[in-house]
Amino acid sequence: MNAQTTVDSSATSTSTEALIAGLNDQLNREITTFLRYMLQAAQVKGAAWEPVRDLYLSEVVDEVGHAQYLANQIIALGGTPKLAPDLTPPPEGVGEMLRCDIDAEANDVAHYSHLAKMAGELCLSSLMMKMEEQAADEDEHRQTMQRLLGE
Ligand SMILES: [Fe+2]
Ligand SMILES: [Fe+2]
Repeated sequence: MNAQTTVDSSATSTSTEALIAGLNDQLNREITTFLRYMLQAAQVKGAAWEPVRDLYLSEVVDEVGHAQYLANQIIALGGTPKLAPDLTPPPEGVGEMLRCDIDAEANDVAHYSHLAKMAGELCLSSLMMKMEEQAADEDEHRQTMQRLLGE
């Protein structure tokens, strides 16, 4: 075997097991998020907040797509998805919903950036790029919410 193309995973601080655990943690964050957005879309009332309701409805689809990708990758890496979503009921007020979600989206950006770094250390290029792409999606969600909140 050509030594130049051999990857010595012991030379990195990231193991496949640690990456699978990180992907599973993020899978649960995504499931938590799309369940919360689904409920929040149903809870939002008032014509003034209709754009927020539309945003939640469209983001449910985005977050399901993120969750599906994470589940696929956990399986591909030899892991087993373990479901443990946070089922805490969402806040009642729209402003409070948006403030909580802006924080959660910012945390997701940080988590995806960390997962991209871990995937890069394991030379998993497509996973690394997809984690960066999903970080960008979450940052767009955060920016849209920030604009709708008008603060
Ligand atoms: Fe997401
Ligand atoms: Fe998001």
